[in-house]
Amino acid sequence: VTESFPPGRVVVGASGAPYTVVVGPGIVGGLPEELARTLPGRRVALISDSHVAPLHAERIADSCRAADIDVALLTFEAGEASKTRKTWSILTDQMLEAGLGRDSCVVAVGGGVTTDLAGFVAATYMRGVPTVLVPTSYLAMVDASVGGKTGVDVRAGKNLVGAFHAPELVLADTELLATLPHSERGQGLVEAYKHGAILDEEHFQRLKEGRSELLSADPVVAARAILESVALKAAVVARDEFEGGYRQILNFGHTLGHTIEAASEYEVGHGAAVALGMLGEAVLGERLGVTSPGTSETLEAALRPLIGTSGLSIDVDRALRYLSVDKKARSGDARFVLLERVGHVSPGDGWTHAVPRSLVEEVLSEVMG
Ligand SMILES: NC(=O)c1ccc[n+]([C@@H]2O[C@H](COP(=O)([O-])OP(=O)(O)OC[C@H]3O[C@@H](n4cnc5c(N)ncnc54)[C@H](O)[C@@H]3O)[C@@H](O)[C@H]2O)c1
Ligand SMILES: [Zn+2]
Repeated sequence: VTESFPPGRVVVGASGAPYTVVVGPGIVGGLPEELARTLPGRRVALISDSHVAPLHAERIADSCRAADIDVALLTFEAGEASKTRKTWSILTDQMLEAGLGRDSCVVAVGGGVTTDLAGFVAATYMRGVPTVLVPTSYLAMVDASVGGKTGVDVRAGKNLVGAFHAPELVLADTELLATLPHSERGQGLVEAYKHGAILDEEHFQRLKEGRSELLSADPVVAARAILESVALKAAVVARDEFEGGYRQILNFGHTLGHTIEAASEYEVGHGAAVALGMLGEAVLGERLGVTSPGTSETLEAALRPLIGTSGLSIDVDRALRYLSVDKKARSGDARFVLLERVGHVSPGDGWTHAVPRSLVEEVLSEVMG
């Protein structure tokens, strides 16, 4: 994190080449110049979804054209349901029809669905072309655009077909958050709280103190929070780029979170499910004597106001069936990332702990009750 702020910069170490995440209000104005500087072919596939294209991507495409860059604006229907091989094939066909060659570049303008999908298009098009990410949701800014994972969902599960493909550059322009629907704001910020919960208590506290400015998408307060959160995730990714071990700590809240999401048939959004998952996993840790008492209350006080959890309900038996297929389950017991306290993750056994099913069942009922 640099001194002059805003904008701020975080360099993410990637084995191919390190890349920079720039965060600040209005920085997407610098995109045409960046593309002209780094792109010999001056040809771009700008990929966006049906919500973000009219709000932002069309204007960004025009600004690139004004700088003599040839832009094919390709859009798809907004929503997770579009993150599929089918949309991937439509987009890659459109790029072929537009005559885009190996010297072209993919620019993704949108939320995590767009950055994952466009990133996978870039990873595979002509065996890989560069990507520039312009994330437009909190979730995409603090999480999806950092770490190089790209991919699509298939019938067997989310994100099961994909590739590691680090971007050349990430421009997180916090003015673009102004149009983000309110329900998406709180849910996306949950992942930033997660970074604080596992790694940095001060980040966690500052998010809590800045909650109303963050929910109203104040571009300067948002930039500071996003920059801190990206730096935390970047440090984890740098230590374990291809997910051998340490990177699992980013799954805090996600083992229970995924079971809640799946058992609700995705009625409960990802952010809300992860928030409940973080609470539940803190309770698990407390019961096992790994997590210091009171941690779950601290998480609850911070997270409940972010997500509308009234009226959320799931069938606990059904959720437990999803738990058994969790990829981290090595035996009958599920494995969980647990905290020591807010800001500190427990090293456990390879960063996870085995938790008896009966305890998971008890805690799931309590959290959802
Ligand atoms: N690659 C990774 O490491 C990683 C990490 C976390 C999540 N993800 C993925 O991210 C996806 C979720 O991301 P998301 O929550 O951003 O979903 P999303 O891309 O579907 O965006 C959520 C909604 O907000 C809209 N939107 C986004 N930005 C907007 C803006 N500025 N103004 C108006 N509307 C806007 C979108 O059109 C969509 O309707 C999931 O598919 C998840 O798997 C990937
Ligand atoms: Zn998540």
